[in-house]
Amino acid sequence: MQIQSDTRPLYERIGGEAKLRPLVQSFYKHLDELQEIQTIRWMHADNLQSAEDKLFMFLSGWMGGPSLFIEKFGHPRLRQRHITFKIGDAERDQWMLCMRHALNETIDDKTLRDDLYASLYAVADFMRNQSE
Ligand code: HEM
Repeated sequence: MQIQSDTRPLYERIGGEAKLRPLVQSFYKHLDELQEIQTIRWMHADNLQSAEDKLFMFLSGWMGGPSLFIEKFGHPRLRQRHITFKIGDAERDQWMLCMRHALNETIDDKTLRDDLYASLYAVADFMRNQSE
């Protein structure tokens, strides 16, 4: 298991809302544009703005910043909220591919990028509800 060397909350390490917002925007830009991720693109509504706002609010609290999602929608119960979507290894990997591009595009610090990738991978993996 990889141990994170910097113990500050991810929200602080990333630089707060000013950096989190572009990360989430870049994630949904790739979700909309990458050819390889068609399966998960079609699970989403045509307009991605609402999904983008919700991911931003969720990640804010998840990274140790303001609990925006909980304040507005209550307990995330994230796995339950995804249960209507068929998520297996392929869907998880498509989600992480968008996130990999977004991290590369918006986070300069490689250690922070790797820490974020590893932590988000654990959440995406937990979201799977189909055995292959
Ligand atoms: C593993 C693959 C994943 C797939 C295929 C997936 C797919 C989706 C879809 C289709 C929606 C509905 C969006 C809409 O309203 O149009 C959604 C909502 C959401 N997803 Fe994911 N997701 C995945 C992983 C994750 C992860 C890892 C996170 C958090 C780190 C996350 C956070 C959210 C949030 C906060 C919402 C909004 C929930 C709500 O409507 O209340 N998702 N996801």
